[in-house]
Amino acid sequence: MSRIVETRQLTPVTKMFVLDNRLIAESAQAGQFVMLRVHKDGERIPVTIADYDREAGTITIVVQAVGATTRRVDALDVGDEILDVAGPLGSPIEIPDGGAHVVGVGGGFGAAALLCLMREIHAKGNTATAIVGARNQDLLIMTNELLGVADNVEICTDDGSAGMKGFVTQRLAQLIEGQGPGRPDRVIAIGPMAMMRAIAATTKESGIKTMVSMDPLMVDGTGMCGGCRVIVDGKSQFACIDGPVFDAQLVDFDLAMRRNKAYAEQEKAAAERLACATAEAV
Ligand SMILES: Cc1cc2nc3c(=O)[nH]c(=O)nc-3n(C[C@H](O)[C@H](O)[C@H](O)COP(=O)(O)OP(=O)(O)OC[C@H]3O[C@@H](n4cnc5c(N)ncnc54)[C@H](O)[C@@H]3O)c2cc1C
Ligand code: FES
Repeated sequence: MSRIVETRQLTPVTKMFVLDNRLIAESAQAGQFVMLRVHKDGERIPVTIADYDREAGTITIVVQAVGATTRRVDALDVGDEILDVAGPLGSPIEIPDGGAHVVGVGGGFGAAALLCLMREIHAKGNTATAIVGARNQDLLIMTNELLGVADNVEICTDDGSAGMKGFVTQRLAQLIEGQGPGRPDRVIAIGPMAMMRAIAATTKESGIKTMVSMDPLMVDGTGMCGGCRVIVDGKSQFACIDGPVFDAQLVDFDLAMRRNKAYAEQEKAAAERLACATAEAV
């Protein structure tokens, strides 16, 4: 069980939670995730560890309310308990030992996941650049916090309301050409699969090592069910134990995106049941 010690609404559908969980805070590393369960008959969902504070014994997560379970999490507030928080799960992101320019690209909740990643990259003596994007200024998250941990923060919005007008891929292409903070030695992308696939295409010709944090459907998060299977370099990999971070050029994105839509009808029905139950309770 984990008590919520702080919350902040970041966008109308995105909320940050700081959880009291010393055990996870003490061993968490960038790229890892936790499995949450909010009520005893509920499903478990994977959520990235956006940040951790070993001294305070807390972890930070950012949840986007997209369906029944994430809406249940979204309804929680300071003082509430989350029934199960299991982790840290998955392998940490491998970070160069120093002297490299590492660029993290974040979209959606992925921007928050850059927080501990940028801090770890910088702490190892590398230059840490974050590229974050959103449709407009109001949907950008965690940019102030990123300014505190990254050497450079590059902001992109589709409508130009903040930072550069354009997509994160366009800014990344400019960096590869040597503009701004310069050509990356490594790129790590965390966000919607369509964005990660576009990042893989952007870096392909350059030969820059590019990693993506895959977010397939997960059931147990411990390698037992096979639900999170992704094809990497033609081989089956379980994102929960072999990943979730993989070489972007070797991932079969088409299959991964098709698999994530496999239960669309059931997910819609669950969201509708939750909406009915909530309306009846009011
Ligand atoms: C390793 C990992 C880390 C993640 N980190 C975060 C995080 O930090 N914050 C966060 O908000 N979410 C994160 N997710 C996604 C999150 O787990 C799902 O959004 C959640 O399970 C959806 O549950 P639900 O019941 O609310 O919605 P559902 O009813 O299950 O789904 C609602 C909609 O979201 C889509 N969806 C469901 N699961 C995923 C998924 N894994 N990726 C993309 N779309 C999905 C469905 O296709 C559907 O359209 C992560 C997923 C993985 C695998
Ligand atoms: S979630 Fe079950 S094997 Fe990965």
